[in-house]
Amino acid sequence: MIEGFRHLPGHLDRPAQEALLAAIRAVLAEAPLFVPTMPRSGRPFSVQMSNCGPLGWVSDKARGYRYEACHPVTGQPWPAMPEMVTALWWALAGYGAPPEACLINYYAPGARLGSHRDEDEADMAAPLLSISLGDEAVFHIGGRKRSDAKTRLTLASGDIAILAGPARLAYHGIDRIRPGTSDLIAEGGRFNLTLRRVTQPAPCDPQAG
Ligand code: SIN
Ligand code: FE2
Repeated sequence: MIEGFRHLPGHLDRPAQEALLAAIRAVLAEAPLFVPTMPRSGRPFSVQMSNCGPLGWVSDKARGYRYEACHPVTGQPWPAMPEMVTALWWALAGYGAPPEACLINYYAPGARLGSHRDEDEADMAAPLLSISLGDEAVFHIGGRKRSDAKTRLTLASGDIAILAGPARLAYHGIDRIRPGTSDLIAEGGRFNLTLRRVTQPAPCDPQAG
């Protein structure tokens, strides 16, 4: 297993999972799930997405992977990150600047996410923090090269995963979810939240304070 990867099984108990799900539903009421498409091919992702926070990750055929301040369908700014989400970042990320993007992925039965590295961010020093809700997922993580050996593990509802240090640029993805393994989400499936720092924080001013 690559150094810098941490898995915190059951970090959120059931009441915390329910509170977080309610907060995500409130975000989605303003910023509905959309279907991103692949750069160049235009093929739709099987995962549906939305975002909250100042920046959101989007992808489409014409302009590819990038961060945008507004929802691609509604044209509205992304809703604020729920307080609970930001609090998890401050408690677990070990990083001195706030997250700027919280990507919300929804996996219906049959959805998957191919192996990729998160590399659209200018700040690679900040970790990635991922929170799972609902059905179990088969997650894989390898190394910095696509051909590096992969480890597979189950991400269950309430689990948190952190990709820091060398793991920040490791290939990872979701092979599949296991439908019916959680009753948290009434309609079934899985939500994953990925918190990211996108821009380089301003350097501290040595004259200040
Ligand atoms: C991602 O890599 O963007 C999401 C991973 C996950 O769904 O756990
Ligand atoms: Fe990712």
